[in-house]
Amino acid sequence: MERTLVLIKPDAMQRGLAGEVISRLERRGLKIVAIRLLRVTKPLAKKHYGEHEGKPFFPGLVDYITSSPIIAAVFEGPDAIAATRQTMGATSPTEAAPGSIRADFGLQKGRNLTHASDSPASAKREIALFFGDAPPVAWPRDTDRWSFE
Ligand code: RTP
Ligand code: MG
Repeated sequence: MERTLVLIKPDAMQRGLAGEVISRLERRGLKIVAIRLLRVTKPLAKKHYGEHEGKPFFPGLVDYITSSPIIAAVFEGPDAIAATRQTMGATSPTEAAPGSIRADFGLQKGRNLTHASDSPASAKREIALFFGDAPPVAWPRDTDRWSFE
């Protein structure tokens, strides 16, 4: 079973789309094992997006992710990382698959609504960053056998 970090970014929060994002992941069969609302600080933003430091869009990305509160959550399930990235869609909303969150609700890369970990190593690092003090809770869901083999 895999875990992935999801961020519901400031634009999704301001536009009232948090429930939509959570609902799509839940309906896919993924299970919430951690969730919190927080305002990302600049140091946390720089750590989380450290791989992009130095790129032209980095200052705008830090401003964006720190501009308003977000929801951070951990979702669990088989292939949770790939499944969640697929539900989010490609980084650029105009290249994202129709029916994905970014295609359905977004227009530009810099306002693409959500984040999802891109590998097991990223997921481990990002979950520790956002939930180091309140680790995810493993819990059996009565419907697990109807979502997971
Ligand atoms: P994320 O990390 O937020 O899940 O997005 P991602 O993997 O699909 O894309 P990534 O390459 O990691 O980029 C991180 C975020 O930076 C913004 N971005 N802007 N203007 C640009 O060229 C550009 N490129 C990336 C996006 O908000 C992207 O989600
Ligand atoms: Mg990324």
